[in-house]
Amino acid sequence: MMDARRSKRYSVCMRDDRGKDKGGVLAEHGSWEAVYRDLKPEELPWNAGGPDPELVSLVDSGAIPVGRAIDIGAGPGHDAIFLAKRGFRVLALDIAASAIELAKANAKKARVGVAIDFRVEDVLKLSSPPGSATFVNDRGCFHVLPEHQRRDYLRRIGDVLVRGGQLLLRTFSEKEPPGPGPHRFTGEQLERIFFPRFDFLRMKEGLFEGPRKPKALVCLLRKK
Ligand SMILES: C[S@@+](CC[C@H](N)C(=O)[O-])C[C@H]1O[C@@H](n2cnc3c(N)ncnc32)[C@H](O)[C@@H]1O
Repeated sequence: MMDARRSKRYSVCMRDDRGKDKGGVLAEHGSWEAVYRDLKPEELPWNAGGPDPELVSLVDSGAIPVGRAIDIGAGPGHDAIFLAKRGFRVLALDIAASAIELAKANAKKARVGVAIDFRVEDVLKLSSPPGSATFVNDRGCFHVLPEHQRRDYLRRIGDVLVRGGQLLLRTFSEKEPPGPGPHRFTGEQLERIFFPRFDFLRMKEGLFEGPRKPKALVCLLRKK
């Protein structure tokens, strides 16, 4: 379990809009790769140890149909593993090679290793062809990107999805107290950012499962 005395380590994103370091896990370790190299899996603040409950409920209710999924910023891979188990064809990508190694090990334990295409890749340089995904899962990747990268993110995700394809987006909410860590968003801000390429199907308040349980906004979007 996490040690509360070390909680400084458990803030996540640390770059302001000019890419200047603001402090937190990334600043402490220097890169996403180093975060995964230096911390044990159970010390990763976002490691929920299993799939996101909202993802499970949306897939199991049929709101997200089985298809071709990309899990971006897959981290320990729990969501990718869940999607593979439900019959999705899954690409799991992360900018950190050590995150992908961890996800591969978790998938092997879950006996779905061969069903997932793992890639070390920057979402901003996504190489998958346009229209190659029906579903994109983002649990905590968008909100760690600096503001100036949002437009590229939107373009890449918008292009890779088929028309009508869905994006499940989970970000810190503005209700999470200010401090270092991921960007906090209001619903209106997310609507403004994603409006050019997406309609919002649902938006609700929730939390990120894991040791800290920060307040979240959970949004299901459909590509226009
Ligand atoms: C807060 S963690 C969430 C990990 C995972 N989705 C989960 O819920 O456990 C954010 C992840 O995004 C990855 N990441 C950050 N920037 C990225 C980028 N530009 N492209 C791909 N992955 C990125 C990090 O390496 C990290 O694994």
